Amino acid sequence: MTTVLKLGGSVITEKETPETVDEAALSAASRAVGISDEPLVIVHGGGSFGHHHAATRGVDTTEGTQDAADVRAIHRAMGALNERVVDALAEAGVAAVPMRPLSVGHKTADAAFVLPTDAVEAALGEGFVPVLHGDVVAHAESGASVVSGDTLVVELAEGLSVDRVGLCSTVPGVLDEDGTVIDRIERFDTVAAALGDSDATDVTGGMAGKVRTLLDLPVPASVFGPEALEAFLAGDPAGTRILGGE
Ligand code: IPE
Repeated sequence: MTTVLKLGGSVITEKETPETVDEAALSAASRAVGISDEPLVIVHGGGSFGHHHAATRGVDTTEGTQDAADVRAIHRAMGALNERVVDALAEAGVAAVPMRPLSVGHKTADAAFVLPTDAVEAALGEGFVPVLHGDVVAHAESGASVVSGDTLVVELAEGLSVDRVGLCSTVPGVLDEDGTVIDRIERFDTVAAALGDSDATDVTGGMAGKVRTLLDLPVPASVFGPEALEAFLAGDPAGTRILGGE
């Protein structure tokens, strides 16, 4: 069973302090990943590394920069975090190898993200665990802009032959109006009220945008918190299961 797993930036970093890893959380997540021996692709977010530099330089998923120094600063910070994540995974016995989106991915003028997945597939086939990250990538007519880890997850799930997707974030799942984790979502309209029914412009974040995106995936997805990571990887119930276009 091949899995694409995203570790949210707020899970593995201390969001309030620039460029600070949450060591305890990162090693706990790495140990949970180390227990599984199934094929796995990992994507991590930016947390206090990428987001800090992107915000300082006024760059986000739509607002690009023409300044190469901005691109270098954001990419360098994400590289520093990627190295820490890869090292923590390696320490937990995971065959982690870094694979960095700026070198291979890009966005078209209409902001569609394109990611050739052949190299990731080849690495997986050799038993490695590719570790990608949210990054800054060339964006036609806008210079370079941020691609989120969530977008990478979608491209990987569509481009590779994967069986499931997991998003590990700081919440235990998708929550209803009472703050209770929703077990299963098959259609957006059934949860629209609870999620505050975002419109199509909600592409930069928020749970509603995440759920819509995950409903469009060709494989089942789960949204869960760090405490459920081991259960998710073992195939046990974890957080919210999102079953859209299977
Ligand atoms: C952001 O990735 C990457 C950069 C800011 C360069 P994400 O948007 O996936 O990061 P998190 O998970 O929200 O921190």
